[in-house]
Amino acid sequence: MKIHQSEFIISAVGPDQYPDDALPEFALAGRSNVGKSSLINKLIQRKNLARTSSQPGKTQQLNYYRINDEIYFVDFPGYGYAKVSKSERQKWGKMIEAYLLNREPLKAVLLVLDIRHAPSKDDQLMYDWMLHFNIPCIIVATKADKISKNKWGAHVRQIEQTIGRRKQDPLVLFSSESGMGRDELWDVIQSFYKQ
Ligand code: GTP
Ligand code: MG
Repeated sequence: MKIHQSEFIISAVGPDQYPDDALPEFALAGRSNVGKSSLINKLIQRKNLARTSSQPGKTQQLNYYRINDEIYFVDFPGYGYAKVSKSERQKWGKMIEAYLLNREPLKAVLLVLDIRHAPSKDDQLMYDWMLHFNIPCIIVATKADKISKNKWGAHVRQIEQTIGRRKQDPLVLFSSESGMGRDELWDVIQSFYKQ
């Protein structure tokens, strides 16, 4: 996809701050530090529009980015970071649940996983949530540049088996470092909202 415009819109803490123009939305979920913000930046070819950091657990709101006046990316705060307090974790859960339950424009969640590791308990819970709410999911196995090509297949199979991937949920290999998977991921995203 050709990007002619991308813009940070808002860090929303609750539904009254979500945009109300009904553009299709794609949310990004995944562990802290897995590479969600980097993935957004790679997709829109901006170095640092979505804030990235090597300090996990920093983003605590839903960050909205509008692309080409056509879709939104909604960058979720990462989960699974050990040093987050129980009350913070509960706040996170309530915010995400409120979003997933009622968000009409949501077309699919991009579940971002690190290709190097088996999905964590939290990753599995996240995917189970999608199944429960019947939300389409795009599985993105990122950081593909970190392992050699001949290992991709085995790692992808481990991911699929661990989470129990539904057939209709596409899986895309990705690297924010090399740009691998960018065109494919855009095609997949567009297939969820373009006729
Ligand atoms: P939180 O917002 O804290 O949840 O993290 P995040 O999921 O947004 O991760 P972020 O995009 O900030 O990336 C975390 C670190 O991983 C950064 O140092 C990135 O440069 C690095 N990183 C992300 N994607 C890739 C990738 O595909 N390959 C490599 N080699 N490094 C990556
Ligand atoms: Mg981030």
